[in-house]
Amino acid sequence: MNLADQAIGSYSGLTLSERFYLWVRSRSCPLERVCAEVPASGRILDIGAGSGLLARMLAASAPQRLVLAIDPDPRKIQFARKGSPIANLILEHRDPARPMLGESFDCILLVDVLYLLPPSEQRSLLEAAARSLLAGGRIIVKTMDTRKRAKITWDRAQEYTSIRLIGLTKGLGTFHVAPDVMRGWLEGCGLAVREIPIDRGFVHPHLLFIGQHPVAVG
Ligand SMILES: C[S@@+](CC[C@H](N)C(=O)[O-])C[C@H]1O[C@@H](n2cnc3c(N)ncnc32)[C@H](O)[C@@H]1O
Repeated sequence: MNLADQAIGSYSGLTLSERFYLWVRSRSCPLERVCAEVPASGRILDIGAGSGLLARMLAASAPQRLVLAIDPDPRKIQFARKGSPIANLILEHRDPARPMLGESFDCILLVDVLYLLPPSEQRSLLEAAARSLLAGGRIIVKTMDTRKRAKITWDRAQEYTSIRLIGLTKGLGTFHVAPDVMRGWLEGCGLAVREIPIDRGFVHPHLLFIGQHPVAVG
């Protein structure tokens, strides 16, 4: 059984539509590929963790990770908590204005979250996240590649349904920024940036950015 299916198996008391949502999410987003970029130990923050699927995968696959999964939508945290507790996973509802609460992390994830915020807020959130990295830590941003026209059109149609029509995701709309803009923001935070396309075999144009904080010398 793969990591995502194991994590789905750790939920209990789900409605049929919640179980279906997790199944679709696990098939439509390369979550295991995202996990592979996360350090195997240390303090991990998943901002906008939603249903908690990725956070469960991260915590269950590496006991040396301490995973804090937060979301501003209390319904999502309620959903994420439906399941057996995992010792190294904390799920919290937090004010989006103060996601880090002054804590520091080895890795901060923003997986399909930034596009819900207007560009100026995306940038501020990245800057706040960068200030909350421990030396040598990393920010992982999973976004969509706006250069891939057909795939991004499909993604926008789906997001319109999710946000505007059925209200499944909390957000003002969608604000995908071009990859060059995202790279510039991360580099502006003093991070060394890698860009990894991870959309092969998927209908969505999944794109990963890894922003690496320099290790302090001396
Ligand atoms: C599309 S879901 C992605 C959930 C999860 N990261 C995943 O990959 O499955 C976007 C999540 O971002 C959350 N969100 C919306 N605005 C946010 C903000 N300002 N700060 C943090 N999270 C936010 C939503 O509540 C939602 O759970």
